[in-house]
Amino acid sequence: MSNLVYVLNGPNLNLLGKRQPHIYGHETLADVERDCVALANEIGLSVRFLQSNWEGQVVDWIHEAREDATGIVINPGAFTHTSVAILDALNAFEGTVIEVHISNVHKRESFRHHSYISLRADGIVVGCGTLGYQLGLRRVAALQ
Ligand code: DQA
Repeated sequence: MSNLVYVLNGPNLNLLGKRQPHIYGHETLADVERDCVALANEIGLSVRFLQSNWEGQVVDWIHEAREDATGIVINPGAFTHTSVAILDALNAFEGTVIEVHISNVHKRESFRHHSYISLRADGIVVGCGTLGYQLGLRRVAALQ
């Protein structure tokens, strides 16, 4: 069985560490990638770590994951609250899906309280900072 996990990041997450650090912290996306790769090595997974500001690109990566991945850890950013297209793509993926949000979206504006992605996610990590990505990877490994 494949041990590959796609770690997908949606819009504005390329600015992690620079945008609204009081909400999202000071770590950059490169730091998160480094930590994910290190953990994956430890627990027998491999990681494809990707970010895009384009909805269709995220959909295309989910289609690719159908071919070769055991799981997807996804922080869809603002697409969480808008994207039926990403939900449909995830519904076509048979492995484990873990949704991650760095901030506690339920403590924030009401438009962040609804997630299309949660209709598909096997697990959700919210408000645990960038540690949420690692928790997501551990959950994918546990379900393998
Ligand atoms: C986020 C929460 C979303 O509401 C927001 O649009 C993001 C980041 C988070 O990680 O907390 O871009 O997904």
